[in-house]
Amino acid sequence: DTPDALTRVSLKFESIPGSLTDAVSVAEGYTAQVLAPWGTPLNAIAQDWKNDGSNTAIDQANAVGMNHDGLHFFPLNDSATEGLLCVNHEYIETAELHPDFDATFNAEGDRIDVDAVRKEIFAHGVSVIHIALENGNWVVKEDARNRRYTGATAMDIAGPLANSSHLVTPYSPDGSQARGTLNNCGNGYTPWGTYLTCEENWPGYFVNQGTAAADQERIGITLGADATGRYRWETLAGHADEQMDEFRRFDITPTGSSALSDYRHEANGHGYIVEIDPYTANSRAVKRTALGRFRHEGCTFGKLEEGKPLTFYSGHDSRFEYLYKFVSKAVWDAADATPADRLATGDKYMNDGTLYVARFDADGKGVWLPLTLDALTKDGGVLADHFATLADIILNTAGAADWVGATPMDRPEWCAVDPITGSVYLTLTNNTKRTEETGTNPANPRLLNKFGHVIRWDETENHTDFSWDIFVFGSSADATADVNLSGLDEMNQFASPDGLAFDQRGILWIQTDNGAKEVTSYTNDQMLAVVPSNLMDEAGNQQTIGSGNQGELKRFFVGPNGCEVTGFTISPDYRSMFVSIQHPGNWPYSDNAAEAAPEGTTVRARASIVVIRRQDGGELAV
Ligand code: FEO
Ligand code: CA
Ligand code: CA
Ligand code: CA
Repeated sequence: DTPDALTRVSLKFESIPGSLTDAVSVAEGYTAQVLAPWGTPLNAIAQDWKNDGSNTAIDQANAVGMNHDGLHFFPLNDSATEGLLCVNHEYIETAELHPDFDATFNAEGDRIDVDAVRKEIFAHGVSVIHIALENGNWVVKEDARNRRYTGATAMDIAGPLANSSHLVTPYSPDGSQARGTLNNCGNGYTPWGTYLTCEENWPGYFVNQGTAAADQERIGITLGADATGRYRWETLAGHADEQMDEFRRFDITPTGSSALSDYRHEANGHGYIVEIDPYTANSRAVKRTALGRFRHEGCTFGKLEEGKPLTFYSGHDSRFEYLYKFVSKAVWDAADATPADRLATGDKYMNDGTLYVARFDADGKGVWLPLTLDALTKDGGVLADHFATLADIILNTAGAADWVGATPMDRPEWCAVDPITGSVYLTLTNNTKRTEETGTNPANPRLLNKFGHVIRWDETENHTDFSWDIFVFGSSADATADVNLSGLDEMNQFASPDGLAFDQRGILWIQTDNGAKEVTSYTNDQMLAVVPSNLMDEAGNQQTIGSGNQGELKRFFVGPNGCEVTGFTISPDYRSMFVSIQHPGNWPYSDNAAEAAPEGTTVRARASIVVIRRQDGGELAV
């Protein structure tokens, strides 16, 4: 559905001021509804959500998870008012999840409550939720396809690491499966109707108190004699009656004689793009290892062209990490947009291809560096000098990228592709550790980059090089001109761009996550919009934000206190927009996302989806 390049929309809402309340704020003429908050039952097994944290692990495995993030609407029967919504659950809020989190530990700080830890693992992952618009409200519908993928769900491994010795565990002796998906932050989707969930800050869930492998050092698995996991799940096994490898597996210390007698390889099943077929009940998720193993923020496909390879972009969100691109070996066949078997189509396009990492050069040019055995390294050798197989390269993707000389970035988060121009945009959320010592580079030019920026590039025909510029620099309105490089004012100042999406009309939506105090003292996290393809000079060259066009960037939405605004999807008729409110403070108070709890009232916070609609039912934003 590529729009006519001559059709241009323009934004028809007024930018709203910042907001610092326990409610969402949205442009005038719009409503915001709370949909599918944490704990919403997805089937008859789950009991209704209880306001005291007393729901069980079994309830949680059959109900919406915590801390919603990336999401996507998959229409049913081409409807704009009924579909399957997939949503990520990045991590957990332990105080809200349990009646008494501290009571789930013993005096040594080890976990002792089996059901509590299971509940935490089950609150991670992905929900598939049948939703429909009824009488002006979106509701959750009963459906056999409603389901959870959690931190414990069995998943298939596909691509270079499938059946590799690196994936051999007591659970999967042939290396064909891994258990669970964790820290699912950004998302993507495919042209054939599947959902992509991205495993981001998974290394902190695993501990290795013994000898570390190179990839574990590079990616930041918790190492050392005193290492403890993020929620200390690994400590439970020693205090339970049963031999529960479901918890012990988070301790990947090599203790046995082989990978079949300990959990040394458990973390090797994490760090991937995971494909889910929402339309097929009970279908297994597939980890697509060809797209690399790192802290994936999102996964976005490039402009589709019949007969050309597919491309997928994915940022590694950590300071000084890299931007990656996967190029499929198979070329795009439009008949695959409506396949009989969606996951088989995933096999066709996502298992074989070349993974590249980006080097941004000084002249607005850049190069995609392949991560293959014969790829040249900075020192004049090849990657085969350091890695024996492609599976070894993938396992330590970031280490391989170091060798080839990729450009260290200011925390690459989401990518988005302009449906009109094909330009690709990437949020670089911030990097306050970029100092005189680390130095700047052309693509990350600000020292102590606390506001972040959005970079953009255009591919060339050959897929190996590109041209780039910086589309907009985050800033507070009152920063000096050498910092406020895009000339933002109160009505569009922002910091820490994170979520990023184009809708198919060419509107770019920018969401923020915990900006610098100069901005957070003025407004909570927010969502802004701009139509980049409207910003052209007379010669038809795309312009950046600044030099008089700043007003084109408008604030559309502000989240409640304490939250992050993340994840974007919109119904095919552009009349319902879905975003996630993650880690809110004292919200939601009611089904109306714009209603704050009365002064002095504290609610049990629940991450949720918010549906934004126009009061007159019309198309959003235009
Ligand atoms: Fe989970 Fe990079 O944000
Ligand atoms: Ca994010
Ligand atoms: Ca972030
Ligand atoms: Ca987050």
